[in-house]
Amino acid sequence: MKERGHWGSRLGFVLAAAGSAVGLGNIWKFPYITGVNGGGAFVLVYLICVVVVGLPIMLAEFQIGAISQRNPVGAVRELEGKKWTPWLLFGGMGVLAAFVIMSFYSVVAGWSLAFVANSLSGYDVGSANGLFQTLTHNSGLQIFWHGIFMTMTGVVVAGGVNKGLERANDWLMPGLILLLLGMAVYATTLPGFGKGFAFLFHFDFGQLTPKGILSALGHAFFTLSLGMGAMITYGSYLKQSENNNLFSSALWILFLDTTIALTAGLVIFPIAFTAGFEPGQGPGLIFNTLPQAFAQLPGGMLLSTVFFLLLSFAAFTSALSLVEVAVSFVVDELGVARKTAAFLIAIALFLLGIPVVLSSSFFEAMDVLSANYLLPLGGMLIALYTGWKMDPDKRKQGWDTIPRWVYLTWVWLLRTVAPAMVGLIFLNTIFEWV
Ligand code: TRP
Repeated sequence: MKERGHWGSRLGFVLAAAGSAVGLGNIWKFPYITGVNGGGAFVLVYLICVVVVGLPIMLAEFQIGAISQRNPVGAVRELEGKKWTPWLLFGGMGVLAAFVIMSFYSVVAGWSLAFVANSLSGYDVGSANGLFQTLTHNSGLQIFWHGIFMTMTGVVVAGGVNKGLERANDWLMPGLILLLLGMAVYATTLPGFGKGFAFLFHFDFGQLTPKGILSALGHAFFTLSLGMGAMITYGSYLKQSENNNLFSSALWILFLDTTIALTAGLVIFPIAFTAGFEPGQGPGLIFNTLPQAFAQLPGGMLLSTVFFLLLSFAAFTSALSLVEVAVSFVVDELGVARKTAAFLIAIALFLLGIPVVLSSSFFEAMDVLSANYLLPLGGMLIALYTGWKMDPDKRKQGWDTIPRWVYLTWVWLLRTVAPAMVGLIFLNTIFEWV
């Protein structure tokens, strides 16, 4: 068997995993759902979910990957020492989820590229018949940008772990952070900054509903790329001798993901308020409201270019991890060469994006299927597997430098709290209690 790729350094691994985590979820979804759910109170609940459910499951995924050195399906085969076991379910679901998420992720990322290109060329993307209207009425244009995005993703994934994924993240993640910091400094100078800040951080527990709590939990999952083996796959590219720093790596990834989401809120809300828009109206916030807000500010074209460039970076580094899950499966389990696998999967995903563009109900179905069903179910099975079924010697491997109570708390959370809380999202989806 050919040698599998490995991360060149621990920093490379942390940046790539943070690149997976930081995506459309942070910059588009988090600010908006925070706004409608009572600001600071929601952020607090979200942070608790990240630590109590997100961190243990992220560590479980890293552990499964690092020990088995395989894709999510192969990992279970390797750890259980059999070709077929019911636990293969979460690996298989993960590969499926990668396709489902990527089908619409790439279309939205394509919009973002279209905004970069048009802002750069000086077109007023925020005018009355702005780019968003043009895009939504022109399927061909959307398919074109989706195709460009898919091609770029396929090319980098074909380049391999070290020369493709790691190198791209080594450039794009620092780039993203710099662009975001630049926008944040600018946002503090705006008259709407105070109002934006208050909108994000005011504590209004009265506005926090049971539905809000579940959406905090669901978002913690999505934003950390958990539940479908993306982190298993990235963990599998750690050299086995290096899997003793998983805990601190995971803390770094959590920190980056959360601060980037909060900073995005501190950029978006002040801009919207300064231009006189209400930021609480959902999916249109970034592609519809924000461009109109940019148009009213001095230097709007530059702002718009920088903002959509950073959004594209974020989407791109996440897309790499989604595609990599499917590619690593095809490479490890079916013995296909990486370049061929990347090429075929990119084409399949391009085709799958076409119905997403043409039908908004197909778009929504893909979103709901992944976020409400596949990811929570996958995450629950990963927690149960690692907590109850995985060989304790393998589970403990690499944990000897970490205080024992931390290890024990981790296992306890995986066995009880994490599956119970994830089960709650899942049951709620089915029965619609709240
Ligand atoms: N975490 C990314 C975001 O916030 C999305 C994402 C990338 C993802 N890979 C994933 C979500 C794997 C779930 C599973 O936008």
